[in-house]
Amino acid sequence: MSSTNRSLNRVNEYGTPPECVRLLTARLSIDYGLSNRHRILEPQAGSGSILRALRDDTLFYDSHVTAIEVNPEHRGALSSVADKVIIHDFLDVEPPADLNKLFDLVIGNPPYGRPTFDTAGTVRLGTKGQPIQEDAVTDHVEHGLRMLKPDGLLVYLLRWAWIVPTVRSTLNRHPIHAYPLRKRPSFLLDGVPKGSDSTEYAWFVWGGTEVNVRFAAARASAPAAFLSTPI
Ligand SMILES: C[S@@+](CC[C@H](N)C(=O)[O-])C[C@H]1O[C@@H](n2cnc3c(N)ncnc32)[C@H](O)[C@@H]1O
Repeated sequence: MSSTNRSLNRVNEYGTPPECVRLLTARLSIDYGLSNRHRILEPQAGSGSILRALRDDTLFYDSHVTAIEVNPEHRGALSSVADKVIIHDFLDVEPPADLNKLFDLVIGNPPYGRPTFDTAGTVRLGTKGQPIQEDAVTDHVEHGLRMLKPDGLLVYLLRWAWIVPTVRSTLNRHPIHAYPLRKRPSFLLDGVPKGSDSTEYAWFVWGGTEVNVRFAAARASAPAAFLSTPI
């Protein structure tokens, strides 16, 4: 891995604080009836902050957990929290052929960008020497949806403002629900909180078929909108 790629990875590696996960799962169990014995996928699992918080939650103690992460340095940490660890680019991992092995819950905190390369395969740099990145979230949403059982949920923690340009342009499927966080998260770097972030965040929820979920009627009246429940 080049030093540019390594530093880019470090920029994109920040762990989700466990309290953010707890706030979300408390609501998901009420709003979407999540219960134990789920098949869970974390597609960009980092060192496993989200999965550790899920494992500590009695709601998920009996779930089967798969972790996917592109950076092999995290294999050891992930092995202690996941039943199955796949070190690979999530966007190149095919959904399981056996439909029973699709997931009830896909949960993550995906990277916003990925490096771009010139024809010689070198990372493209901007005028200040910074890697030029392109949007990655849209692809992580579309691919995450392919991993779901028909009534499954895809849930990503993203900057609240991310939704504005994206929904207007590239996203094929709108979220069905958002849970904006009342308190700005303090993301973890090497397990240590970095301090309150400079912007607002929300958990965005997409549904598999979008028919089994509790708020279908409310959404039907405003198909381009999504419900918003601050947590
Ligand atoms: C913001 S961190 C989130 C880590 C973890 N979800 C958490 O909240 O603790 C993003 C992670 O995505 C990984 N990543 C980036 N692109 C990826 C890809 N295409 N496939 C799998 N993992 C990827 C990075 O290596 C990094 O660990």
